[in-house]
Amino acid sequence: MPLGNPSREKEGLVPKPEEILRNAKEHGFGPRSLELLRRALMVESLGAMAFSLYDAPPIISRAGNGALVYDVDGKEYIDMMAGFAVHNAGHHRPEVLEAIIEQFKRIVQYSEMLSEERIKLSEKLVEITPGDYPKKVFYGVTGTDANEIAMKLVRYYTGRTVIMTQWGDYHGRTMGASALTHSFSTWAQTYPVPPAGSAVVRFPFPYCYRCPFGLEYPDCGMACLNYVDYMLSARYYGLSDPGKGLTNVAAMIIEPYQSAAGYIIPPDEYLPELFKIAREHDVLFVVDEIQTGWARTGRMWAIQHYGNLEPDLFLIAKSIANGLPFSAVVGRSEIMDSWGPGAFSTTFAGYMLGVAAALKTIEIFEKERLAERAEKMGNYFYKGLKDLQSIHPIVGDVQAKGLYIGIEFVSNRESKKPATKETKWMSMRLVELGMLVKKAGYFGNRFALSPPLTITREQIDRALELFDKVFSEAEEKFIIRN
Ligand SMILES: Cc1ncc(COP(=O)(O)O)c(C=O)c1O
Repeated sequence: MPLGNPSREKEGLVPKPEEILRNAKEHGFGPRSLELLRRALMVESLGAMAFSLYDAPPIISRAGNGALVYDVDGKEYIDMMAGFAVHNAGHHRPEVLEAIIEQFKRIVQYSEMLSEERIKLSEKLVEITPGDYPKKVFYGVTGTDANEIAMKLVRYYTGRTVIMTQWGDYHGRTMGASALTHSFSTWAQTYPVPPAGSAVVRFPFPYCYRCPFGLEYPDCGMACLNYVDYMLSARYYGLSDPGKGLTNVAAMIIEPYQSAAGYIIPPDEYLPELFKIAREHDVLFVVDEIQTGWARTGRMWAIQHYGNLEPDLFLIAKSIANGLPFSAVVGRSEIMDSWGPGAFSTTFAGYMLGVAAALKTIEIFEKERLAERAEKMGNYFYKGLKDLQSIHPIVGDVQAKGLYIGIEFVSNRESKKPATKETKWMSMRLVELGMLVKKAGYFGNRFALSPPLTITREQIDRALELFDKVFSEAEEKFIIRN
């Protein structure tokens, strides 16, 4: 009996090791996978992400071409995750490997010290990120670091405390970034541990399929935007006193599309209007493109779909170094230079090996025009999924920009009842049939698809066939009809 954890409701959040093994057997895991899973359950915490994604996580051992990965038994899977939107340029890039090996031979890291290549990378990053004004770079290792840096910096620079973000956003899980992260159950999972940055307020994200105001787009008049404006304008809301030109709000830190929430894409006018509101109220605009960036949506950056939005800070990570941990904040020089040397630091920030991988990866994005490829393949995939939606009542909604694709499942189209258990079941059935998908959503009823941008048309066709089969099976098993 564990001490100090009497809360009975928490028990439901934690799977039993024997259930995980039973699920693995039921879903046809091979002998080596079963053996390794058994060992993992002896030594790995059940708090790990793998156990939340799947009832039994497959044990991946290598990647193949395009969007293929293999488990320890040699079973092949179509990869609809790209290691959580990290391998946009494809898993196997011999050029990146070569750059890493060459760098490794010279030097791996020298704790945050400058290097010629790092300076070259900074020059490149200020060139390719949005914003036509002097910019500078601050390195981290993880996407969460980038958010932590941004949170500290906007407060330091403005001398104000409050940060605004969107309900359902995900920005990391450390004690600081947790305050910005509110996607589905993340707070419930660690309650009563509070996030450290309490001065965070949230506004509703335009999740139009389930409008938080109960309205219908476009008749809603974008009530969500009016609400943000109201939060900043109304004196009794407490954030500002516009009459006296005072505000306590340092910045908005937002995801342009909500990723962990299941790849939810707002209407076209949302981001430009939100940016305008931030400007009107003298609030810094910080965009987290950690998951939407690096050509995923059919542009190098998602906000480039909306004209000339100029974020004050821009956060990047994940696909930047083709699999090596690496992140950066790129921002207005005036903000980036407002704090003194050593104001933030983490030992491996901007490490040389990661720099070498990033420089080569960026070269690939540009040379192979991966944004254009994402747009083309994404349109093809989207059309196939819309066709499936027309024959499968379990598919409530499909949204896509490039190869950033969200599918929402419902057990009843009219009531839009979230098909949560069905989605869970389908994700395991797809593992059985050889496809890895990310289960996500406010209600755990979405698939968030982010295959490597090198995915082939044949692999998309195969994915569509598997979806068709599994949607039919789920409709039969859970009795879902039009
Ligand atoms: C939008 C966004 N921001 C921040 C993060 C945190 O990045 P990391 O997991 O590398 O710390 C993630 C991770 O999924 C993310 O999707």
